[in-house]
Amino acid sequence: MKRCSIIIHSVTGNTFIIADHLCKLLREGGVDARLYRVEDPDLHILANENERTNEFLEDLLAIPVVKNEKLLKSDAVVMGCPTYFANVSAEMKAFIDGTIGYYGTGDMNGRLFAAFTSCGGGLDDAKKAIAAMNTWALQMEMELLPVEPLIHVSGEEGGIRPSVEFGGRIGSFADVILKALS
Ligand SMILES: Cc1cc2nc3c(=O)[nH]c(=O)nc-3n(C[C@H](O)[C@H](O)[C@H](O)COP(=O)(O)O)c2cc1C
Repeated sequence: MKRCSIIIHSVTGNTFIIADHLCKLLREGGVDARLYRVEDPDLHILANENERTNEFLEDLLAIPVVKNEKLLKSDAVVMGCPTYFANVSAEMKAFIDGTIGYYGTGDMNGRLFAAFTSCGGGLDDAKKAIAAMNTWALQMEMELLPVEPLIHVSGEEGGIRPSVEFGGRIGSFADVILKALS
């Protein structure tokens, strides 16, 4: 069975909702899909300050923290991250930087990759965040999957959750991964 690791950072839950649905779709399609999160020691603090973080705190903490070795067991890697200042979050960047041990080794060569993001409303910002994740994958000599950009817009308050219509777009994203892994 082919394995796909979905590695996310999420603070107010939107990226998590997308990743959770994607994980289910990939499993239904016969892929060994596993959801991981990057380390974020501030989640408890943020949950005290922000009801939207608090709402998803238990779900987020229940996800295992990713270890670099998981990358080597993955036929495909999906990265999901909120758009922060037209880039990935600091927590996701810390994970990315921590994979330097695999840079130039060929370890990640040819593994499949796709990225998605949730943003407040800046679509150009979101595209830059996806580009940052894709750049990492290319530097690791991974192969970018031909997915349509999967960008969720949560609005100024961050509270517009992924809709049923957006679920259809997650389905199309999943189909590309499933086809590539079949
Ligand atoms: C520090 C910070 C920076 C942000 N920068 C952007 C940005 O550049 N463009 C944008 O559209 N949204 C921006 N946002 C909004 C988030 O991308 C948005 O709320 C997203 O849905 C959060 O995802 P999450 O619910 O998975 O944590 C920013 C939010 C924060 C907290």
